[in-house]
Amino acid sequence: MQLLNASGCLDALTAPDVARSLDAFVTKTVTPEPREGNPPPRIAETDHGMLNAIGLANPGRQAFLGQTLPRLARELGPVWVSVGGFRAGDYAETCEQLARDEVACVELNLSCPNVDEAPESAAEVVGACRAATALPLYAKLSPHAWDIGETVRAVEAAGADGISLVNTLRGTALDARLRPRLARGAGGYSGPALRPVALAAVAAARRATRLPIVGMGGVSTGRDVLELVACGASHVALGTVLFADPDAPSRVRAELRRELDELALATVEDAFCAALELVVKAEN
Ligand SMILES: Cc1cc2nc3c(=O)[nH]c(=O)nc-3n(C[C@H](O)[C@H](O)[C@H](O)COP(=O)(O)O)c2cc1C
Repeated sequence: MQLLNASGCLDALTAPDVARSLDAFVTKTVTPEPREGNPPPRIAETDHGMLNAIGLANPGRQAFLGQTLPRLARELGPVWVSVGGFRAGDYAETCEQLARDEVACVELNLSCPNVDEAPESAAEVVGACRAATALPLYAKLSPHAWDIGETVRAVEAAGADGISLVNTLRGTALDARLRPRLARGAGGYSGPALRPVALAAVAAARRATRLPIVGMGGVSTGRDVLELVACGASHVALGTVLFADPDAPSRVRAELRRELDELALATVEDAFCAALELVVKAEN
Protein backbone atom coordinates (compact mmCIF):
# COMPACT_ATOMS: atom_id res chain seq x y z
CA MET A 1 0.00 0.00 0.00
CA GLN A 2 1.27 3.47 -0.89
CA LEU A 3 0.39 6.64 0.99
CA LEU A 4 -0.21 9.62 -1.32
CA ASN A 5 -1.61 13.13 -1.03
CA ALA A 6 -4.98 13.97 -2.58
CA SER A 7 -4.67 16.33 -5.55
CA GLY A 8 -4.90 20.02 -4.62
CA CYS A 9 -4.21 19.43 -0.91
CA LEU A 10 -0.41 19.82 -0.86
CA ASP A 11 1.97 22.23 -2.60
CA ALA A 12 5.18 20.21 -2.93
CA LEU A 13 7.27 23.21 -3.98
CA THR A 14 6.51 25.08 -0.74
CA ALA A 15 6.49 21.95 1.46
CA PRO A 16 8.94 19.50 -0.19
CA ASP A 17 9.60 17.63 3.08
CA VAL A 18 5.91 16.78 3.47
CA ALA A 19 5.83 15.60 -0.15
CA ARG A 20 8.92 13.44 0.45
CA SER A 21 7.25 11.83 3.48
CA LEU A 22 4.66 10.33 1.08
CA ASP A 23 5.25 7.36 -1.23
CA ALA A 24 4.21 9.48 -4.21
CA PHE A 25 3.20 13.09 -4.80
CA VAL A 26 0.07 13.97 -6.81
CA THR A 27 -0.01 17.45 -8.43
CA LYS A 28 -2.91 19.88 -8.39
CA THR A 29 -5.06 19.39 -11.51
CA VAL A 30 -3.54 21.00 -14.60
CA THR A 31 -5.81 22.28 -17.38
CA PRO A 32 -4.86 23.31 -20.94
CA GLU A 33 -5.26 27.06 -20.28
CA PRO A 34 -4.30 29.01 -17.11
CA ARG A 35 -7.24 29.41 -14.71
CA GLU A 36 -7.61 31.97 -11.94
CA GLY A 37 -10.36 29.88 -10.40
CA ASN A 38 -13.46 31.27 -8.72
CA PRO A 39 -13.70 34.62 -6.89
CA PRO A 40 -13.15 34.67 -3.09
CA PRO A 41 -14.25 33.64 -0.57
CA ARG A 42 -13.67 30.15 -1.89
CA ILE A 43 -12.97 28.21 1.32
CA ALA A 44 -15.35 27.77 4.27
CA GLU A 45 -14.88 25.63 7.37
CA THR A 46 -18.00 23.78 8.55
CA ASP A 47 -18.66 21.60 11.62
CA HIS A 48 -17.62 18.30 10.06
CA GLY A 49 -15.66 19.22 6.97
CA MET A 50 -14.46 21.92 4.64
CA LEU A 51 -16.06 23.52 1.60
CA ASN A 52 -13.87 24.69 -1.25
CA ALA A 53 -14.72 26.32 -4.55
CA ILE A 54 -11.19 26.84 -5.83
CA GLY A 55 -12.34 26.09 -9.39
CA LEU A 56 -9.17 24.40 -10.69
CA ALA A 57 -6.95 27.48 -10.32
CA ASN A 58 -3.64 26.54 -11.98
CA PRO A 59 -1.00 28.10 -14.24
CA GLY A 60 -2.07 26.05 -17.28
CA ARG A 61 -0.40 23.31 -19.26
CA GLN A 62 2.41 25.33 -20.85
CA ALA A 63 3.72 26.77 -17.57
CA PHE A 64 3.22 23.43 -15.82
CA LEU A 65 5.21 21.49 -18.42
CA GLY A 66 7.89 24.17 -18.82
CA GLN A 67 8.47 25.14 -15.19
CA THR A 68 6.50 23.31 -12.48
CA LEU A 69 6.96 19.71 -13.63
CA PRO A 70 10.75 19.87 -14.18
CA ARG A 71 11.15 21.46 -10.71
CA LEU A 72 8.95 18.81 -9.10
CA ALA A 73 10.82 16.00 -10.86
CA ARG A 74 14.18 17.44 -9.72
CA GLU A 75 12.97 17.68 -6.10
CA LEU A 76 10.97 14.48 -5.86
CA GLY A 77 11.61 12.19 -8.83
CA PRO A 78 8.67 11.08 -10.98
CA VAL A 79 5.29 12.39 -9.75
CA TRP A 80 1.63 11.67 -10.38
CA VAL A 81 0.14 14.37 -12.58
CA SER A 82 -3.54 15.24 -12.18
CA VAL A 83 -4.95 16.17 -15.58
CA GLY A 84 -8.18 18.11 -16.12
CA GLY A 85 -10.11 19.56 -19.03
CA PHE A 86 -13.50 20.17 -20.57
CA ARG A 87 -13.42 17.86 -23.58
CA ALA A 88 -11.73 14.50 -24.13
CA GLY A 89 -9.23 16.18 -26.50
CA ASP A 90 -8.03 18.56 -23.73
CA TYR A 91 -7.09 15.65 -21.52
CA ALA A 92 -5.53 13.65 -24.35
CA GLU A 93 -3.34 16.55 -25.55
CA THR A 94 -1.94 17.02 -22.04
CA CYS A 95 -1.30 13.28 -21.70
CA GLU A 96 0.54 13.26 -25.01
CA GLN A 97 2.92 15.97 -23.76
CA LEU A 98 3.84 14.31 -20.46
CA ALA A 99 7.34 12.83 -20.50
CA ARG A 100 7.75 9.37 -19.05
CA ASP A 101 10.84 10.13 -16.92
CA GLU A 102 9.13 12.99 -15.05
CA VAL A 103 5.77 11.30 -14.59
CA ALA A 104 5.01 8.09 -12.69
CA CYS A 105 1.29 8.10 -13.33
CA VAL A 106 -1.54 10.25 -14.69
CA GLU A 107 -4.69 10.80 -12.64
CA LEU A 108 -7.55 12.03 -14.82
CA ASN A 109 -9.75 14.40 -12.80
CA LEU A 110 -13.17 13.43 -14.15
CA SER A 111 -15.04 14.81 -11.19
CA CYS A 112 -14.41 18.47 -10.24
CA PRO A 113 -17.59 19.90 -8.68
CA ASN A 114 -16.37 23.52 -8.92
CA VAL A 115 -16.50 24.29 -12.62
CA ASP A 116 -19.54 24.98 -14.79
CA GLU A 117 -18.37 23.08 -17.85
CA ALA A 118 -19.29 19.37 -17.70
CA PRO A 119 -16.60 17.08 -19.12
CA GLU A 120 -17.51 14.48 -21.70
CA SER A 121 -18.26 11.03 -20.33
CA ALA A 122 -15.60 9.49 -18.14
CA ALA A 123 -15.09 6.54 -20.49
CA GLU A 124 -14.71 8.82 -23.54
CA VAL A 125 -11.98 10.81 -21.78
CA VAL A 126 -10.15 7.67 -20.66
CA GLY A 127 -10.34 6.19 -24.17
CA ALA A 128 -8.87 9.35 -25.75
CA CYS A 129 -6.06 9.45 -23.17
CA ARG A 130 -5.35 5.73 -23.60
CA ALA A 131 -4.68 6.37 -27.27
CA ALA A 132 -2.39 9.30 -26.36
CA THR A 133 -0.04 7.81 -23.74
CA ALA A 134 1.49 4.60 -22.46
CA LEU A 135 1.72 6.06 -18.92
CA PRO A 136 -0.47 4.42 -16.25
CA LEU A 137 -3.89 6.12 -16.20
CA TYR A 138 -6.05 6.44 -13.08
CA ALA A 139 -9.64 7.67 -13.41
CA LYS A 140 -10.66 9.90 -10.49
CA LEU A 141 -14.39 9.59 -10.02
CA SER A 142 -17.11 11.46 -8.19
CA PRO A 143 -19.06 10.00 -5.27
CA HIS A 144 -22.20 11.52 -6.89
CA ALA A 145 -22.54 8.73 -9.46
CA TRP A 146 -25.71 6.71 -8.93
CA ASP A 147 -23.97 3.48 -9.91
CA ILE A 148 -20.23 3.71 -9.26
CA GLY A 149 -19.72 0.10 -10.37
CA GLU A 150 -21.08 0.89 -13.83
CA THR A 151 -18.72 3.88 -14.25
CA VAL A 152 -15.79 1.79 -13.02
CA ARG A 153 -16.52 -0.97 -15.53
CA ALA A 154 -16.83 1.60 -18.32
CA VAL A 155 -13.50 3.31 -17.59
CA GLU A 156 -11.77 -0.04 -17.19
CA ALA A 157 -13.08 -1.14 -20.60
CA ALA A 158 -11.78 2.17 -22.03
CA GLY A 159 -8.27 1.38 -20.79
CA ALA A 160 -7.90 2.76 -17.24
CA ASP A 161 -5.14 1.14 -15.18
CA GLY A 162 -6.58 2.25 -11.83
CA ILE A 163 -9.37 4.13 -10.08
CA SER A 164 -9.20 7.03 -7.60
CA LEU A 165 -12.18 7.60 -5.31
CA VAL A 166 -13.60 9.93 -4.05
CA ASN A 167 -13.56 13.55 -5.15
CA THR A 168 -15.58 15.99 -3.02
CA LEU A 169 -19.38 16.06 -2.60
CA ARG A 170 -21.18 19.26 -3.57
CA GLY A 171 -22.22 21.34 -0.52
CA THR A 172 -23.35 24.79 0.61
CA ALA A 173 -22.88 26.67 3.91
CA LEU A 174 -24.68 29.84 5.04
CA ASP A 175 -23.46 32.70 7.26
CA ALA A 176 -25.35 34.24 10.20
CA ARG A 177 -27.35 36.43 7.79
CA LEU A 178 -28.33 33.34 5.76
CA ARG A 179 -26.10 34.27 2.82
CA PRO A 180 -23.88 31.67 1.11
CA ARG A 181 -20.41 31.72 2.65
CA LEU A 182 -18.74 30.89 -0.67
CA ALA A 183 -18.92 33.51 -3.42
CA ARG A 184 -19.86 30.73 -5.82
CA GLY A 185 -22.69 29.54 -3.54
CA ALA A 186 -21.77 25.86 -3.56
CA GLY A 187 -18.42 24.11 -3.35
CA GLY A 188 -16.81 20.71 -2.81
CA TYR A 189 -17.28 19.22 0.65
CA SER A 190 -14.25 17.32 2.01
CA GLY A 191 -12.89 16.09 5.34
CA PRO A 192 -14.26 13.78 8.07
CA ALA A 193 -17.90 13.84 6.89
CA LEU A 194 -16.80 12.26 3.61
CA ARG A 195 -15.38 9.11 5.19
CA PRO A 196 -18.48 6.86 5.15
CA VAL A 197 -19.17 8.03 1.58
CA ALA A 198 -15.62 7.09 0.57
CA LEU A 199 -15.85 3.67 2.23
CA ALA A 200 -19.07 2.85 0.37
CA ALA A 201 -17.73 4.15 -2.96
CA VAL A 202 -14.50 2.17 -2.68
CA ALA A 203 -16.41 -0.99 -1.74
CA ALA A 204 -18.72 -0.51 -4.76
CA ALA A 205 -15.71 0.01 -7.03
CA ARG A 206 -13.95 -3.05 -5.60
CA ARG A 207 -17.00 -5.19 -6.37
CA ALA A 208 -16.75 -4.03 -10.00
CA THR A 209 -12.99 -4.38 -10.64
CA ARG A 210 -9.68 -5.92 -9.67
CA LEU A 211 -7.80 -2.78 -10.78
CA PRO A 212 -5.83 -0.89 -8.10
CA ILE A 213 -7.91 1.72 -6.28
CA VAL A 214 -6.60 4.86 -4.54
CA GLY A 215 -9.05 5.47 -1.71
CA MET A 216 -9.51 8.94 -0.22
CA GLY A 217 -12.08 11.06 1.58
CA GLY A 218 -11.80 12.24 5.17
CA VAL A 219 -8.79 10.10 6.08
CA SER A 220 -7.03 11.53 9.13
CA THR A 221 -5.83 8.52 11.18
CA GLY A 222 -4.18 5.13 10.73
CA ARG A 223 -7.50 3.48 11.54
CA ASP A 224 -9.12 5.43 8.66
CA VAL A 225 -6.45 4.09 6.27
CA LEU A 226 -7.06 0.53 7.40
CA GLU A 227 -10.83 0.86 6.99
CA LEU A 228 -10.44 2.08 3.41
CA VAL A 229 -8.11 -0.83 2.66
CA ALA A 230 -10.58 -3.22 4.28
CA CYS A 231 -13.21 -1.89 1.85
CA GLY A 232 -10.91 -2.56 -1.10
CA ALA A 233 -8.48 0.36 -1.50
CA SER A 234 -5.00 -0.65 -2.70
CA HIS A 235 -3.49 2.77 -1.86
CA VAL A 236 -4.72 5.67 0.29
CA ALA A 237 -4.47 9.46 -0.14
CA LEU A 238 -4.50 12.17 2.53
CA GLY A 239 -6.36 15.35 1.62
CA THR A 240 -7.94 17.97 3.89
CA VAL A 241 -6.03 16.67 6.94
CA LEU A 242 -2.78 18.00 5.41
CA PHE A 243 -3.95 21.63 5.78
CA ALA A 244 -4.26 21.25 9.56
CA ASP A 245 -1.50 18.69 10.11
CA PRO A 246 1.41 18.58 7.65
CA ASP A 247 2.97 15.81 9.78
CA ALA A 248 -0.04 13.58 9.08
CA PRO A 249 1.87 11.12 6.81
CA SER A 250 4.32 10.00 9.53
CA ARG A 251 1.69 10.13 12.30
CA VAL A 252 -0.76 8.09 10.22
CA ARG A 253 1.93 5.48 9.44
CA ALA A 254 2.75 5.08 13.17
CA GLU A 255 -0.96 4.77 14.01
CA LEU A 256 -1.37 2.22 11.25
CA ARG A 257 1.37 0.01 12.70
CA ARG A 258 -0.36 0.10 16.12
CA GLU A 259 -3.75 -0.73 14.56
CA LEU A 260 -2.26 -3.72 12.73
CA ASP A 261 -0.73 -5.00 15.99
CA GLU A 262 -4.03 -4.64 17.82
CA LEU A 263 -5.86 -6.55 15.11
CA ALA A 264 -3.07 -9.16 14.88
CA LEU A 265 -2.60 -8.44 11.18
CA ALA A 266 0.95 -8.80 9.83
CA THR A 267 0.60 -6.27 6.99
CA VAL A 268 -1.90 -3.82 5.56
CA GLU A 269 -2.32 -6.22 2.63
CA ASP A 270 -3.92 -8.74 5.03
CA ALA A 271 -6.81 -6.28 5.50
CA PHE A 272 -6.99 -5.94 1.72
CA CYS A 273 -7.17 -9.73 1.26
CA ALA A 274 -10.16 -9.75 3.61
CA ALA A 275 -11.82 -7.20 1.31
CA LEU A 276 -11.20 -9.30 -1.78
CA GLU A 277 -12.63 -12.36 -0.04
CA LEU A 278 -15.80 -10.43 0.75
CA VAL A 279 -16.07 -9.40 -2.89
CA VAL A 280 -15.67 -12.97 -4.08
CA LYS A 281 -18.36 -14.09 -1.61
CA ALA A 282 -20.69 -11.33 -2.82
CA GLU A 283 -20.11 -12.44 -6.43
CA ASN A 284 -21.00 -16.10 -5.75
C1 LIG B 1 -8.69 22.84 -1.33
C2 LIG B 1 -8.91 21.61 -2.16
C3 LIG B 1 -8.49 21.59 -3.50
C4 LIG B 1 -8.69 20.45 -4.27
N1 LIG B 1 -8.24 20.44 -5.56
C5 LIG B 1 -8.37 19.30 -6.31
C6 LIG B 1 -7.84 19.23 -7.63
O1 LIG B 1 -7.22 20.16 -8.14
N2 LIG B 1 -8.01 18.06 -8.31
C7 LIG B 1 -8.66 16.96 -7.79
O2 LIG B 1 -8.78 15.92 -8.46
N3 LIG B 1 -9.16 17.02 -6.52
C8 LIG B 1 -9.04 18.14 -5.79
N4 LIG B 1 -9.52 18.17 -4.50
C9 LIG B 1 -10.20 16.96 -3.97
C10 LIG B 1 -9.23 16.09 -3.16
O3 LIG B 1 -8.18 15.62 -3.98
C11 LIG B 1 -9.97 14.87 -2.53
O4 LIG B 1 -10.50 14.07 -3.56
C12 LIG B 1 -11.10 15.28 -1.59
O5 LIG B 1 -10.79 16.46 -0.88
C13 LIG B 1 -11.47 14.18 -0.60
O6 LIG B 1 -10.41 13.89 0.27
P1 LIG B 1 -10.27 14.57 1.75
O7 LIG B 1 -11.62 14.48 2.40
O8 LIG B 1 -9.23 13.74 2.44
O9 LIG B 1 -9.84 15.98 1.52
C14 LIG B 1 -9.34 19.31 -3.72
C15 LIG B 1 -9.76 19.34 -2.38
C16 LIG B 1 -9.55 20.46 -1.60
C17 LIG B 1 -10.01 20.44 -0.16
